Amino acid sequence: MLRFKKNDLCIEQVKLSDIAKQYGTSAYIYSKNQIIKNFEAYKKALGSKGGFICFACKTNSNGAILKLLAGIGAGADTTSGGEIYRCLKAGFNPSKIVYAGVGKTSEEIEYALKSKIFMFNIESFEELDAIDNIAGKMKVKAKISFRINPYVNPDTHSYIVTGRKGTKFGIPYEDAVKAYLTAKKKKNVAIVGIHSHIGSQILNIAPFKLAAQKIKKIVDAVEKNGIKLEYINCGGGLGIEYEEGQKVPDPSQLMLELFPVFDKDKKFIFEPGRSIIGNAGHMLIKILYRKISGGKSFLITDAGMNDLIRPTLYEAYHEIMPIKKTNAKKVKTNVVGPICESGDFMGKDRMLPMIEQGGHLLVTCTGAYGAAMSSEYNSRPLLPEVLVDGNKAVLIRKRASYKDLLLNEI
Ligand code: LLP
Repeated sequence: MLRFKKNDLCIEQVKLSDIAKQYGTSAYIYSKNQIIKNFEAYKKALGSKGGFICFACKTNSNGAILKLLAGIGAGADTTSGGEIYRCLKAGFNPSKIVYAGVGKTSEEIEYALKSKIFMFNIESFEELDAIDNIAGKMKVKAKISFRINPYVNPDTHSYIVTGRKGTKFGIPYEDAVKAYLTAKKKKNVAIVGIHSHIGSQILNIAPFKLAAQKIKKIVDAVEKNGIKLEYINCGGGLGIEYEEGQKVPDPSQLMLELFPVFDKDKKFIFEPGRSIIGNAGHMLIKILYRKISGGKSFLITDAGMNDLIRPTLYEAYHEIMPIKKTNAKKVKTNVVGPICESGDFMGKDRMLPMIEQGGHLLVTCTGAYGAAMSSEYNSRPLLPEVLVDGNKAVLIRKRASYKDLLLNEI
């Protein structure tokens, strides 16, 4: 929902230059209607199949965004007690909260049980024991699935592949049936389904389908042993178009391929994160200084790697564009931050118009894993977040202050 109106780049109806004036930079800006559109595409694709769409809230855990998604029927995919807490506060129905993660602590397990979440995605035999014990002490039954590692290796950055053999994630494929047989003997767990998540920013459906086919074999073997698996949780992972021309499958194409793999009576859970919020959020930044050094051009901005770590951590590409149309000559330049590390960049060797000092740029598609992965490194307070709906821009997180940096210090 970014488009130029005359000379001004707008998010929905609001000029980004007005947001910069009102809230300052750097700042994260989100389009409410893009989030709704992205979520509705999943909901429509799931149709009457049964099951639900759980927003992977690790991608963006701002309370206003969570509340928006809870309000339009989303469930939540969580990975910590803190995420469960945020989701409950934001109004998610606990019966639509799923909880994955290789290292759930006893406190987190207890909190999840107390909160009556829908189910745990269990990732090891020892975690099964822990959940069974804690549920026993609390005199409740824990609803569980196993996260199975299907040994599928999607084509994406190696740090965000999770379904490959040899990663820490899930129950090893060869132990999957044994896990279910072990769980069947436990008194305090109820088996409801099966889960797999193979990675993130995946741009083709083939690895999802391969994973589903491998999971189906486990479902058949488990059900032969008298254990019914009601829910198939296909995880998240669908990519988005970071670079112009990147072909991205949509949720309906994904589901069209996956549903026929399983028997008709199955219900489905999907855990999209990036494909819900990624292209709905952008980071608005200001050019502080310009310089040429060693024959290279640099735009030094007010956003650092602490605000957006993806370019340096995953060599991720985010398109960067000026927020005003200009006839200024384009030059090859590096968009960098103020932090004393060579990895502190938003984009390298980009053809950008030579904008004036004080001008603004937009680092696009940073809604997912942008603010959520930001830190106070270099004692830089966390950025404000703004949600735009039509012609209204509302602050949903205020800019942190220097005082906030000392919060909790003794
Ligand atoms: N479900 C589980 C169990 C996950 O581990 C993840 C993401 C998701 C769902 C959501 O995946 P998505 O639909 O967003 O691809 N920080 C990295 C991405 C890490 C993904 C971790 N797991 C990045 O900035 O690219």
